[in-house]
Amino acid sequence: MTTPSTTKPSPGRYPEIYARSIDDPAAFWGGAARAIDWIAQPREVFDPAIGTYGRWFVGGICNVCYNAVDRHVSAGRGTQAAIIYDSPVTGTSRTVTYSDLLAEVRTLAGMLRDLGVEKGDRVVIYMPMIPEAVFAMLACARIGAIHSVVFGGFAAAELATRIDDAKPKVVLSASCGIEPSRVVAYKPLLDLAISMAEHQPDACVILQRPQFTAELKQGRDRDWAETRAASAAAGRGVDCAPMGATDPLYILYTSGTTGKPKGVVRDTGGYMVALRWSMDGLYDVKPGEVFWSASDIGWVVGHSYIVYAPLLTGCTTILYEGKPVGTPDAGAFWRVIEQYKVSALFTAPTALRAIKKEDPDGLLIRNYDLSTLRTLFLAGERADPDTVIWAGEKLGVPVVDHWWQTETGWGIAGNPVGLGLLPVKAGSTGVPMPGYRVETLDEAGHPVGPNKMGSIAIRLPLPPGCLPTLWQQKERFVESYLAEFPGYYKTADAGFCDEDGYLFIMGRTDDIINVAGHRLSTGGMEEVLASHPDVAECAVIGMHDELKGEVPCGFVVLKSGVSRAPNEIEREIIALVRDRIGPVAAFRIAITVARLPKTRSGKILRGTMKKIADHQPWTMPATIDDPAALDEIASALAAHGFAKVSAA
Ligand code: COA
Ligand code: AMP
Repeated sequence: MTTPSTTKPSPGRYPEIYARSIDDPAAFWGGAARAIDWIAQPREVFDPAIGTYGRWFVGGICNVCYNAVDRHVSAGRGTQAAIIYDSPVTGTSRTVTYSDLLAEVRTLAGMLRDLGVEKGDRVVIYMPMIPEAVFAMLACARIGAIHSVVFGGFAAAELATRIDDAKPKVVLSASCGIEPSRVVAYKPLLDLAISMAEHQPDACVILQRPQFTAELKQGRDRDWAETRAASAAAGRGVDCAPMGATDPLYILYTSGTTGKPKGVVRDTGGYMVALRWSMDGLYDVKPGEVFWSASDIGWVVGHSYIVYAPLLTGCTTILYEGKPVGTPDAGAFWRVIEQYKVSALFTAPTALRAIKKEDPDGLLIRNYDLSTLRTLFLAGERADPDTVIWAGEKLGVPVVDHWWQTETGWGIAGNPVGLGLLPVKAGSTGVPMPGYRVETLDEAGHPVGPNKMGSIAIRLPLPPGCLPTLWQQKERFVESYLAEFPGYYKTADAGFCDEDGYLFIMGRTDDIINVAGHRLSTGGMEEVLASHPDVAECAVIGMHDELKGEVPCGFVVLKSGVSRAPNEIEREIIALVRDRIGPVAAFRIAITVARLPKTRSGKILRGTMKKIADHQPWTMPATIDDPAALDEIASALAAHGFAKVSAA
């Protein structure tokens, strides 16, 4: 199952560094922690006796905002760009130096304090990719408030669920986000979400963007500029609060196997140590260099690699409000790299597929000077070897695929460029990063040998940076991740490890699908489909898509007696998913069938349905109730324009 190496072996420092992290984690991570400024040194690097599986840097006192902003100004980086905001969708750009950033964050922290936000309070940030969103995250970190950023592509109901779970004292938002095709008015979505939620925030502070002016409600709503100005005029700059290393920095919600998202908790000290290590060891990017993660602050990649890791390192980070194509063309990424002298780019394979589709020969690449770019990093979904090879050839730099999850906060496996690039194997996400003891297990939880498929699990304890728990759901944390394989964290990814220790991540073992690098739950979509009054039962599968990797495809069985035209109901179902989950679900295929294929015990055969939809060879499950039901799925797909494949 292995793929041949495409570059010459060079073991570099990886084997020794990785071995040290496993043999003596306290010495390894204690050493890495020296890159962070502590108010009080940790009492212990790791204490196995506290938390669910132990906690990192117990007793340490520190502040993330101090490490990401203040200390760089004190060290003479005040005039260096901290954030370069580049927004082709508005035709604007702005450079924020570290001194500017410090001033902004101090003021905003004062504004939050004026609104009654204290250490440990939650603040929901529902904002587009603008500098104020980053200021808001850092201002929370400064005063010890726990932020929870919600991605703009989610619908009001998803925002409401997060508001009810996090119970924010304040919501920070903007009048709109800007998609190439439309202006997305945030305020009506926020108002609807708050009307749906049981929890009511004390205040909503709304940044008015020139593209759209939101209506503010008397009492609860505040104008951002006015509120900020009042705090600034009162000289309310706030210094960094001393935080425990194990205190939560943020909650980031991610899709679980039900419609209710999981609130992944990130701690303070361990996260800083892991991110700072990764900038040297994995990304090989140094203070003063320009790092660009073309993601969104609503996702974990955005939290870790647009905001925290580059700023903790004293880099310049790019905040890009645009798309890889269409803003204005498939050369947008190359323009940004040239203009700002980007050293490393981190993006999702889907973005490259979009570029490759529009500019297959990479002609636009030749218009730009990309000499500063050293490495391209990919993550978020499986990187198809064609795209990896295309990018490597056209850009002439190593393309490093690396694997991680919202839960881990940084790469579980990758190719540690800073320790010496290892041979690249197409299709592999590289080798485990320090502290991750990754194993492939069979169904009984026993490790399997090299090149054998299984469930990928990480032996506890997880390294610094990874989630210690789910927000106020300790039992769900144990149940979802720790219960199935005692002593391990279950990643819910399936794959294998080859004889050289390289990991190959092949897909999820649960109902999560990955649409254009966005993680979504088919179970959550099924809940929406099932709520339609004409739907008796349903199944949603992730169907292969050339551009987005996967797209959701919903099959519905209508209630008996429903006489309305199926295509009318299908249109309503598509609108319902957009309305309840959001446009980001990219749910555009709904197919009515007479029945769903099931086993004799009534289990829907989603796996086989997916194989049929993906034109993969499939075998008739021995336990199937009626084999003809699978042929009906194939026919329904064919009738909707997706070709039919017969059983192998
Ligand atoms: N706010 C509001 N709506 C948003 C949004 C946001 N922040 N982001 C996406 N949407 C909307 C899009 O406008 C689109 O709406 P539509 O149905 O009206 O067209 C819908 O959600 C689906 O978006 P997407 O899946 O992103 O498709 P797209 O056609 O707009 O763009 C790509 C395709 C490949 C260019 C884009 O998905 C992309 O750049 N992906 C990279 C993802 C990434 O970086 N992920 C982070 C993991 S590292
Ligand atoms: P998220 O939590 O949104 O980052 O999504 C995490 C999931 O995305 C993982 O569990 C994987 O299924 C998938 N994923 C992330 N990175 C990769 C990668 N490099 N290769 C394959 N799958 C990936």
